[in-house]
Amino acid sequence: MILVTGGAGFIGANFVLDWLRGCDEPILNVDKLTYAGNLRTLEPVLHDPKHVFARVDICDAAALDALFAEHRPRAVVHFAAESHVDRSIHGPADFVQTNVVGTFTLLEAARAYWSKLDAGERAAFRFLHVSTDEVFGSLSATDPQFSETTPYAPNSPYSATKAGSDHLVRAYHHTYGLPTLTTNCSNNYGPYQFPEKLIPLVIANAIAGKSLPVYGDGQNVRDWLYVGDHCAAIREVLGCGEPGETYNIGGWNEKTNIEVVHTICDLLDAARPKANGSYRDQITFVKDRPGHDRRYAIDARKLEGKLGWKPAETFETGLAKTVRWYLENQAWVGEVASGDYRKWVETNYTERG
Ligand code: NAD
Ligand code: DAU
Repeated sequence: MILVTGGAGFIGANFVLDWLRGCDEPILNVDKLTYAGNLRTLEPVLHDPKHVFARVDICDAAALDALFAEHRPRAVVHFAAESHVDRSIHGPADFVQTNVVGTFTLLEAARAYWSKLDAGERAAFRFLHVSTDEVFGSLSATDPQFSETTPYAPNSPYSATKAGSDHLVRAYHHTYGLPTLTTNCSNNYGPYQFPEKLIPLVIANAIAGKSLPVYGDGQNVRDWLYVGDHCAAIREVLGCGEPGETYNIGGWNEKTNIEVVHTICDLLDAARPKANGSYRDQITFVKDRPGHDRRYAIDARKLEGKLGWKPAETFETGLAKTVRWYLENQAWVGEVASGDYRKWVETNYTERG
């Protein structure tokens, strides 16, 4: 089987659901179930014998050792992290704990287990670390896209802790020979994304008749990738990636934030017209994110050239699917957007005016 961490979060759950739909190999899903983790998302596989769920913190070394010993995975796919930049600005401690200490603890547990495998199993073992393009810092409008050799320059507490975890993974390959793979992906969107992130937040607020908060001048650029394409890329890297290598994953879809918000409003105007006016009328420009990175863009040619991966969705097809999914799954949104979420919205948006 494979061990997946963070498989109750947005990308991890999409990965688990896609994997179990597509193959017979079981998954051990290790997740602490923070505010961002939802068993509701995993409902279709909760009674599937190929899906074993363990509510465990990746900082808990003893629990991880026991899971490795009992389930003997052939690979680890590591999604678990604190993932929201704004939350990292309000409270960086959890990010250092999970992203740095947690990744270190997981690496140690994996190394202890891996070093006792026989030679064949050791060679076949993989530790795939899921990381982000944010570790490379911020681009100007004319800079070339991030490649695998772009120097690290993380700017937020979130990206600094992800960069720290990437360095640990690199060191475990270089020093101990652990067969690691690292992927650095651009912004994901799609079903089951927690509505603190731009796209699901805008869809949820639009339908609820609330304002659509755009930070600063709305001209920051992100490179959007449909989550199903990210999961397909991870499967490709897990299967055929070269140990010790890193792979950038991106959708070739650079958009300004205001373009993204306009497109969502236009899709909603068509799917669920308002009695008067357009959803665009709800857009409000609010105080910027401190240290807000201006532009991210991924050069994904290595992944395409070496492993033949290309995104299947364009931004237009992926976003249309996503808007439709949120319209049809408002019960899911209602359930996750409860206690902690309401507190977060108050903390983040009251101060932006
Ligand atoms: P998410 O916040 O939606 O989910 C994170 C999951 O990790 C949750 O299920 C949570 O319960 C779990 N978790 C958190 N701390 C844990 C701990 N200490 N022990 C065990 N489980 C814990 O995140 P996401 O958007 O799905 O991102 C998944 C990974 O992909 C992260 O590593 C993130 O850095 C990376 N990434 C995300 C994006 C994106 O656009 N969302 C893009 C590139 C890379
Ligand atoms: O680039 C990959 C990263 O993408 C991942 O590593 C992170 O885990 C993921 O959260 C995401 O980070 P961003 O900060 O880019 O995503 P977010 O959805 O928070 O914001 C996207 C852009 O939209 C960003 O420029 C900030 C802006 N924004 C965000 C929110 C929540 C707004 O204008 N208004 C908002 O209310």
